[in-house]
Amino acid sequence: MCGIIGFTGYADAKKVMIDGLTALEYRGYDSAGIAFFEENGIKTLKTIGKVSVLADKVAKEVVAKTSESTCGIGHTRWATHGGVTDTNAHPHTSGKVTLIHNGIIENYRELELSLKESGRTPVSQTDTEIAALLIDSLYDGDAIKTIKKAVELLEGAYAFCIMFADQPDIIYSLRNSSPLVACHTKEGSIIASDMVALIDYSKDYFVVPEMHVVILKRDSISLTDLDGNEVSPRMLHVNWDMTAAKKGGYPHFMLKEIHEQPDSLRNTILPRIQNKLPDFTADNIPDSLFDGISRIIITACGTAMHAGLIGKVMLERLLRFPVTVEIASEFRYQDPIIDKSTLVITISQSGETADTLAALKLAKEYGASTLSIVNVKGSSIARESDYVLYTHAGPEIAVASTKAYTAQLSCLYLLAFRFAYATGKLEKEKCIEEMHELLNMIPALEETISFDKKIEEISKQLTEKEDLFFIGRGLDYALSCEGSIKLKEISYIHSEAYAAGELKHGTLSLVTEGVPVVALATQQKVYSKMISNIREVKARNAFVVLITMKGQEAEPSIYDYHITLPEVKDTYAPFLAAIVLQLLAYYTSLHRGLNVDQPRNLAKSVTVE
Ligand code: G6P
Repeated sequence: MCGIIGFTGYADAKKVMIDGLTALEYRGYDSAGIAFFEENGIKTLKTIGKVSVLADKVAKEVVAKTSESTCGIGHTRWATHGGVTDTNAHPHTSGKVTLIHNGIIENYRELELSLKESGRTPVSQTDTEIAALLIDSLYDGDAIKTIKKAVELLEGAYAFCIMFADQPDIIYSLRNSSPLVACHTKEGSIIASDMVALIDYSKDYFVVPEMHVVILKRDSISLTDLDGNEVSPRMLHVNWDMTAAKKGGYPHFMLKEIHEQPDSLRNTILPRIQNKLPDFTADNIPDSLFDGISRIIITACGTAMHAGLIGKVMLERLLRFPVTVEIASEFRYQDPIIDKSTLVITISQSGETADTLAALKLAKEYGASTLSIVNVKGSSIARESDYVLYTHAGPEIAVASTKAYTAQLSCLYLLAFRFAYATGKLEKEKCIEEMHELLNMIPALEETISFDKKIEEISKQLTEKEDLFFIGRGLDYALSCEGSIKLKEISYIHSEAYAAGELKHGTLSLVTEGVPVVALATQQKVYSKMISNIREVKARNAFVVLITMKGQEAEPSIYDYHITLPEVKDTYAPFLAAIVLQLLAYYTSLHRGLNVDQPRNLAKSVTVE
C-alpha cells in the first residue's frame, strides 16, 4: 500500500514523479505529495485527493515559476496511521531529512515518546514522520551510518526514499518487506514501488534487496549493505511494455484486464504444455516436488485465496491428498500444523502481500516445502519460495483482480494435472485429453466475453439493490466466493456467497421478494440438486440470475435471466463463469456511478498486515 518514487537525473523531476505516481496510484489514492531539490533547498507540495489534484497544484507552482528540479521523491498514500489530511500526506520533513515511506513502523509510539524527551515533536499523526524525526536525530552527515543506526531502532515494514538537505540531488533508499525496484538510464536514476513507474525509462531493473541501501545519483546508481560495502545488483528484465500498463482505449483498467484474459491465459498455459502434457521443466519445478508430501496447504488473501478454493477442489480430486485453504492473515497466528511432509502453496498477484509473505516465511520455518504462484517477477514472495510458478498475466492495475485470478486458476489446474500424472494417479492419455480441454476453454472464454451487453442489461437490475447472494455447489461455490467479493468491492452492494445446500440453514430467511440471487449451476454432478436449491429461492420470489452450461436445460419459471456458457467440460466452467461475474460487478459499479478501478478504502497491493 502506498506508492513511492524517487528520481534524480537530467529530466524534469516533477514530471517524472507525477507520471510515476499516476502509474502507482492503484496502490493508494487518499493523498499525494512530492518533495524536490530546488535552488533554495528542498520544497514540498502535498495535498489530500488523487494524484491529479497534486498535478494541478504542481502545475500552478510551475506557472508561478518555481525553479527547475531534477531530483525529487513522490508518494501516493493509503492512510494507515492518521486520517486523510494535508499534514499527514507524505513527504515528511524533520530538520535536514525529508522522506517518503511505504509500510508501517510498528514501534512508532515508543520512538515518539523517546524523541519527545529530546524535544522533537511531530506535527502529523503518522508513523512515517516519527521515522523522519528519528533519522534526523541520528544524522551526522554520514547517510549510510545514520540509516544503519535508524534501522537498528525501527520495527515494522518499510520502503523509504530519503533526501538530506545538505546532500543535493542524491536520494537514499532502503527497504524491509515493502517492495522497491530501481534502475539507471541515460535520463538518470529512478526507484519506485513497482515496475509500472520505471517501464517508461527501462525494461532492465533490479529488485532492491532487503536491508540494503540504494544511492541514487544523477550519473550512477549504487547498492551497498548497511556497512557501506558495495554490492552488485542482480538485474532483471520485464517482457511487457508501457502499453500493457495503459488503458489502451478502454474506459477502465478493469474492463481492459477482463478482455486481456484470453491472452494472459495463453501466455500462462502454452509454455507449460510440452508434448501435449503439462510440464514445469522450464520453471525448474521437478516431479520430485511431491516426494514425501502427504498434505497441501494453500494460503493467500482476497481473490488469490479464492483461486485457492478452486485449486483445492482440483488438487484433492486429482491427487487424493488433503488440501486446506487458509486465509494468510489467520494462518500465521494459528500455530498451524505444518511439517516436512506439507507442501505450502502461496498465491499472490503482487507477490508482496504482507500477510501472505509472513505465512510463507512461517511455513518455511516449520520445514514445509513451498511453492508460490505469483504474477510479479522477482517479488518478495517469489524470492522467498522454494519454487515459483509465474502467472504471465502482465501488469494488473485495477484494484479488483480479474486476469490474475484466471491465470492463477490455470496454474493450479496445470499443477494438479502434472502431479496427478507424475504420481501415477492420472493416465497419460487422460492427461493429454485434459490439456486439450484446458486449451479449448480459451476460445470459449473469448465467446463469454462477448456476452457483455446481456450482462450489462442484468447489472442495471442490480444497481438499486442492497443485498445480493451468490450460490453454487462444488467448484461453483468456490467461484461464488470470488463473484461476491468482486461485486462488493467495486459496487459497494452487500453480497454473500453460499454453498447452495446451506442456504436453508439460516440465510434463506434473508431471501425475500426481489432479492437478487446469482445461481451458478455449471457442475453436472450436482446439477439437479442445484436446480432444487434455485427453486427454493424462486419460491420466495427472489430475482434469479442463472448461469449454466450449454446443453443444461432449465425451465424459464426458475430464473429471471439465464446465461448459457459455451460448451466446455464442466471442470473448466469456473474460467467462463468468472468472466460473467467480473462483468456483472464491472457494469453494476459503472451504473452506480462509482470509481471502478479505485474503489473506496481499498488498495491493490496490501503491504501492511
Ligand atoms: C488486495 C487486492 C485484491 C487481491 C488481494 C491479494 O485486497 O485488492 O485484488 O486479491 O489484495 O493480493 P495479492 O497481490 O497477494 O494477490
